[in-house]
Amino acid sequence: MSSPIISTIFIIGGTGAQGIPIIRALVDDKKYAVRVLTRDATSRRAKALLELPNVSTLEGSFADEDILRAGFRGCDGAFINIDGFNTGEKTEIYWAIRSYEIAIEEGVKFFVYGNLDYVLKLSGYDSTFRTGHYDGKGRVGEWIQFQNQANRERMGAAIFTSGPYMEMAMSPMTPMTPTLEQGVVTWRVPLGEGAVPHVALEDCGYYVRWLFDHQERANGMNLEVAIEHVRYADLAAAFEKVTGHPAQYIDTNLDAYWDGSLKAAANAPAGYNANLNDKSTMTFRDNFTGFWNVWKHCIVKRDYALLDEIHPNRIKSVDQWLRREDELGRALGKGSLWDRIQPENFRNETPILKVSEDGRKGKL
Ligand SMILES: NC(=O)c1ccc[n+]([C@@H]2O[C@H](COP(=O)([O-])OP(=O)(O)OC[C@H]3O[C@@H](n4cnc5c(N)ncnc54)[C@H](OP(=O)(O)O)[C@@H]3O)[C@@H](O)[C@H]2O)c1
Repeated sequence: MSSPIISTIFIIGGTGAQGIPIIRALVDDKKYAVRVLTRDATSRRAKALLELPNVSTLEGSFADEDILRAGFRGCDGAFINIDGFNTGEKTEIYWAIRSYEIAIEEGVKFFVYGNLDYVLKLSGYDSTFRTGHYDGKGRVGEWIQFQNQANRERMGAAIFTSGPYMEMAMSPMTPMTPTLEQGVVTWRVPLGEGAVPHVALEDCGYYVRWLFDHQERANGMNLEVAIEHVRYADLAAAFEKVTGHPAQYIDTNLDAYWDGSLKAAANAPAGYNANLNDKSTMTFRDNFTGFWNVWKHCIVKRDYALLDEIHPNRIKSVDQWLRREDELGRALGKGSLWDRIQPENFRNETPILKVSEDGRKGKL
């Protein structure tokens, strides 16, 4: 009996928060093999991935044409998430475009681009909403869809548009990290009555696998995902319901927010290898001010009926996500969500983002 032909998918960003569940979803049943680009194949996350079936690594940076060529060569598919928090907006756009071009040249058959909403355009080009790490991806997402009109037979392409991970609202060192204030779990963020279309990382795995499994339908598609639009008063209420412990959302003005735990980072470049002397570079503060304005004014939409069709068992509410996270934490011996948020435990919780685990350092 001949052995089945396994498609190999080149992955950029595979050791990251988003990449790990996507790789799991691709290789768990061994239908696909993945070649994961990483700057360090000996890191904790890279080694954990190498324990999975059908995973190999390629060491190097996406900011290197020779590495990109070596990565794409011999692969049928690609999932590309270029880390804008490394590069900054301008450099991200360049390497994302080059990735698409080199993938075609190297004979890749299906290209999935890890995208975020082009919020500046969605706002009607109002700079109040400018968010470098969103617009840097969103512009390229549209550019790829345009190229795909001419190239779709040679290399199919799909856009996978995600959003802020739900996990970030329960993890240290993120823009929405909660604090424990007199025994009350507290989110102090400048969201007003707005809502964040949070994404469940686990479901990102399902969706990206779906795109590779349904290439004919997915070719040219922009799959925009989220759990639901989460108001933070509802997040606090759901936390109380699931854990039985008090929680609150305190709407915070932008000045107070930037005077809080993110104060030290506010004037740093949003991308740790971007140069503040380059006037295109946004600071952390400018970037995440736009980010919060986007959610406060509900600039981003989702088609939840489409998501229900594509992933009927998707996580559909913040309540459901919290319940699941509570169970997963207990099964892993981390305790309940309430235990995990206690300062002595929260301090030792591994950040969901690799960039935070690495202390916002690393080569371009
Ligand atoms: N935070 C969110 O809620 C969110 C949501 C959606 C999208 N995003 C976007 O996702 C991107 C970051 O991915 P993530 O969220 O998974 O963050 P993450 O956990 O910090 O992971 C960053 C990933 O990028 C890789 N990387 C960084 N620089 C690289 C380079 N020069 N060459 C090759 N690989 C490099 C890292 O690999 P190694 O360290 O192993 O080299 C790692 O896999 C950003 O562009 C961000 O805007 C973030």
